[in-house]
Amino acid sequence: MDLGLTGRRALVTGGSKGIGFAVAAELLAEGASVAICSRTPDEVKRAADELRSSHPDAEVVDLVADVTDVEQVQTLVDDSAGRLGGLDILVNNAGGAHPGNFETLTEEDWRGDLDVKLFSQIRCFRAALPYLRESTAPRVVNVNAVYGKYPDPAFFATTVIRAACLNLNKVLAQEFGAERILVNSVNIGFVDTPQWENIRRRRAPDSSKEEFFGRLSEAEVPLGRFGRADEVSGLVAFLAGSRASYITGAVIDVAGGMGKYV
Ligand SMILES: NC(=O)c1ccc[n+]([C@@H]2O[C@H](COP(=O)([O-])OP(=O)(O)OC[C@H]3O[C@@H](n4cnc5c(N)ncnc54)[C@H](OP(=O)(O)O)[C@@H]3O)[C@@H](O)[C@H]2O)c1
Repeated sequence: MDLGLTGRRALVTGGSKGIGFAVAAELLAEGASVAICSRTPDEVKRAADELRSSHPDAEVVDLVADVTDVEQVQTLVDDSAGRLGGLDILVNNAGGAHPGNFETLTEEDWRGDLDVKLFSQIRCFRAALPYLRESTAPRVVNVNAVYGKYPDPAFFATTVIRAACLNLNKVLAQEFGAERILVNSVNIGFVDTPQWENIRRRRAPDSSKEEFFGRLSEAEVPLGRFGRADEVSGLVAFLAGSRASYITGAVIDVAGGMGKYV
């Protein structure tokens, strides 16, 4: 299936590793040009070099930016659009898990998590809007979490904040539908990426990765395993492409069946 991504210009926040890196690779493989960012200069450069070596004819832009900083986001979006010649696709992916239950989360934890999850999506969308308005097929894909619909006190902040992100996704789709800016969300369950090593260290420092993943998967995931980042990236590319031209405001789980809701 041709996804219609040839010549499209995409910004993937948090593209230096994990899901964002897989999304950038997938978009490049489909013929798009891509800008990625993260806060860690050597990691974002290494990731971009790896993408360039597997897609030598494609344009890959690497930028250092913190999506919790308004000015850095503006510069990130302007530089991405400047170097790619415009912007058709924004993938709001940057983020991370902040495990903890109500009693362990501090005021600072809440504000930090709100900033990186919800406000980053708001400010990246706002900065990208003038460029998306210039695009012939503007697309926004927000990477969110099943916990936004499936409350779990062990991921308390994620549960609360991702619910707000899912509402943001829907209301953006409503407000900007008339301008044909399509906004969709991909809800992640458990996908094996570097952030899970941090979670294991905090929650189960004495367990191996296999034991920790095995326990969580058995309890929560009908398919019985963690997913891979390349099992997420195909859906993101589909939603960013022309075959998804009548889909907006949708939330699609990539979670191996996780989440006891309909
Ligand atoms: N993996 C899962 O099971 C899972 C489940 C639910 C939701 N998610 C969501 O999926 C997204 C990707 O997660 P992942 O598992 O791929 O995580 P990851 O492997 O830790 O990668 C996160 C990426 O985001 C970047 N990032 C983090 N904070 C940033 C900031 N303030 N500004 C700019 N870049 C930032 C990281 O680079 P730097 O740290 O160097 O900046 C990195 O490139 C996140 O939003 C996460 O919450 C993942």
